[in-house]
Amino acid sequence: MPQTIAVLDFGSQYTQIIARRIREFQVFSKIYHFSTPPERLREDGVIGIILSGGPSSVFAEGAPIPDPGIFEMGVPVLGICYGLHLMGHLLGGKVVKGDRREYGHGNLKIRSRGRLFKGLPSRLRVWNSHGDELTRVPPGFKPIASTENAPYAVLEDRKRNFYAIQFHPEVFHTERGTDIIKNFLIGVCGAGQDWTTRDFIKHAVAEIRGAVGKSRVILGLSGGVDSSVAAALIHRAIGQQLTCVFVDNGLLRKGEREAVESLYKRNFKIDLRVVDASELFLQRLKGVEEPERKRKIIGNTFVEVFEKSLKKIGHADFLAQGTLYPDVIESVAIGDNPAALIKTHHNVGGLPARMKLKLLEPLRELFKDEVRRLGGALGLPREVVWRQPFPGPGLGVRVIGAVDDEKLGILRQADAILQEEMMASGWYWKVWQSFCVFLPVKSVGVVGDERNYAWVIAIRVVESIDAMTADWTRLPYDLVQKVSGRITNEVRGVSRVVYDVSSKPPATIEWE
Ligand code: XMP
Repeated sequence: MPQTIAVLDFGSQYTQIIARRIREFQVFSKIYHFSTPPERLREDGVIGIILSGGPSSVFAEGAPIPDPGIFEMGVPVLGICYGLHLMGHLLGGKVVKGDRREYGHGNLKIRSRGRLFKGLPSRLRVWNSHGDELTRVPPGFKPIASTENAPYAVLEDRKRNFYAIQFHPEVFHTERGTDIIKNFLIGVCGAGQDWTTRDFIKHAVAEIRGAVGKSRVILGLSGGVDSSVAAALIHRAIGQQLTCVFVDNGLLRKGEREAVESLYKRNFKIDLRVVDASELFLQRLKGVEEPERKRKIIGNTFVEVFEKSLKKIGHADFLAQGTLYPDVIESVAIGDNPAALIKTHHNVGGLPARMKLKLLEPLRELFKDEVRRLGGALGLPREVVWRQPFPGPGLGVRVIGAVDDEKLGILRQADAILQEEMMASGWYWKVWQSFCVFLPVKSVGVVGDERNYAWVIAIRVVESIDAMTADWTRLPYDLVQKVSGRITNEVRGVSRVVYDVSSKPPATIEWE
């Protein structure tokens, strides 16, 4: 077992963020249920404990309370927010119930830096979110910093290496918060910073093997980053016990199915079943113009086809998914309080419940950038790991209006030209998304001496951080010219190419 920092989870929506911050310093951490007994923590090689925040009050009925034995283990403890109130409550201080929950910025004044604030300025802006209040410091502790509202914002017990912080060092809104965590990990717990992606893989492989045993696992591969990395990781762990299913819905880009087959079948030797359901999808989409109806048809048909293919494959016990941490939380902030993130659990159309499949989600604690790094370490090529997002309904929402073979064929060719030129110029890697849209509009052009009445293709290239907002990319005119020239020359049935110069908002990234 590596040196482990235990994060005891008291229900804070920030627990995973604490774990992520710890990983950023190449220290191994594990999230435990708040009631985990000290013996278990000791077995796991725990060298420090962080008590997460939580929505509860220590006085609430059924409030989560840890095993008091954790304070006798002789390892450093850092209590955050609810963690501070718990330490106050359990270690002989006094905590009173606050009238209302306080959240927002506070100004921290540090009186004594100790090890926790080593190298930090004496004033920091911090983020608060708490209900209870500590009114008497427990024996052995000394307050070392305060805010305008809390004289005991930070406590230290140097002898036992116990620290308690009322604010949240793990959130982005707290200035130098990550340095505070680092000081605890390195300066107080003495963690060696040697936990690498390779170690993560080794550990994840062991966990997957432990969870799966000899059972069979099915994974729906989309070719996107998340399902690809999940497939590569699970395959590393259990080899042929994993079967991947790739559904060709007829709405894929040029060469996409072949690329997936070649990478996973030939390179990784994964048991990959490609289900060609393109006819069924196109038949159901025939004449359907309304985007949301198209999405619904595509979504429902996918579930149906996937479910059928599972029955064909035979018995499986697990359904693997590339769920990431940001999929687990739904970022609906209430007011401007980032603490009000609501946890939801996504899975593919209720499939696992209906089919009595257990879920295997080895990436569910990771963030996108961590998953990309992991994918690279597992040997996935750059084209997969840094692939631009592609919507589930595929080209179905990029042919405006009713979808048919002719339009899809034209869009596929035009889009392939755009991608080729984006790759060749290196712009593919600099933007968030780049794609073509088929417009069901005929426009007049001239070819030789003849009038040509043909379709219009729009080029959409955007920059974005999270797809919530986006700006259209100022591609060099020469590049736009090259793409446009190639599309009108090489793709029959297109007479005109336009460049989309709308930002989001008010436009969306996709046209439908
Ligand atoms: P919009 O068009 O809403 O897109 O600005 C934001 C991001 O989401 C992608 N997108 C989808 N992804 N199913 C998906 O899996 C969908 O129906 C869908 N619609 C949009 C879009 O490509 C962009 O990255």
